[in-house]
Amino acid sequence: MASAAPESDIEHVLLTEQQLDSRLTAIAAQIDADYAGCDLLLVGVLKGAVMVMADLSRRITHPVTMDWMAVSSYGSGTKSSGVVRILKDLDSDLHGRHVLVVEDIIDSGLTLSWLVANLRSRGAASVEIAAMLRKPDAAKVEVDVRYVGFDIPNEFVVGYGLDYDEHYRNLPYVGTLKSSVYSS
Ligand code: XMP
Ligand code: MG
Repeated sequence: MASAAPESDIEHVLLTEQQLDSRLTAIAAQIDADYAGCDLLLVGVLKGAVMVMADLSRRITHPVTMDWMAVSSYGSGTKSSGVVRILKDLDSDLHGRHVLVVEDIIDSGLTLSWLVANLRSRGAASVEIAAMLRKPDAAKVEVDVRYVGFDIPNEFVVGYGLDYDEHYRNLPYVGTLKSSVYSS
């Protein structure tokens, strides 16, 4: 169970607020250069990508629009199954749009490979991915990610939008949890 002081449940800080911040600034500059002159739609995947979307979009100077999707990859606990269900769909028509999917983390890659195929089938001019975190050792399918914040080890992480049982999303850094949190 999460304790009253979330910080005390953290075993190890993997990425500090400063590391996340400077990486996002670099990615935003790349996006500005790559999409110069394009009509860019940022699609955030709820709920985990809320922090990345807020921080990344504020560092992009290029005009963008934003939309949100919520998907659930059926599966229990901390594992994704690859069977994806749309809980909240986009409000935007994707026809002819340049879409950049903004994600918190790529684990097996199953959710995003499904999502990208789904968005491409809606007639988008392009669909690319920006993910704050990626776990290369957990990949089950190859996903072509244009912008990656950090490659991290194959461990369950929380913070900066990522949750365990809906807790810890508001921690400003990314870290691992003490094993006592899982066992209680
Ligand atoms: P797949 O495996 O389909 O999963 O790439 C992506 C989704 O699974 C969640 N996920 C995590 N959530 N800490 C979390 O809080 C993690 O370490 C983690 N790994 C995967 C997340 O919702 C992501 O979008
Ligand atoms: Mg997610």
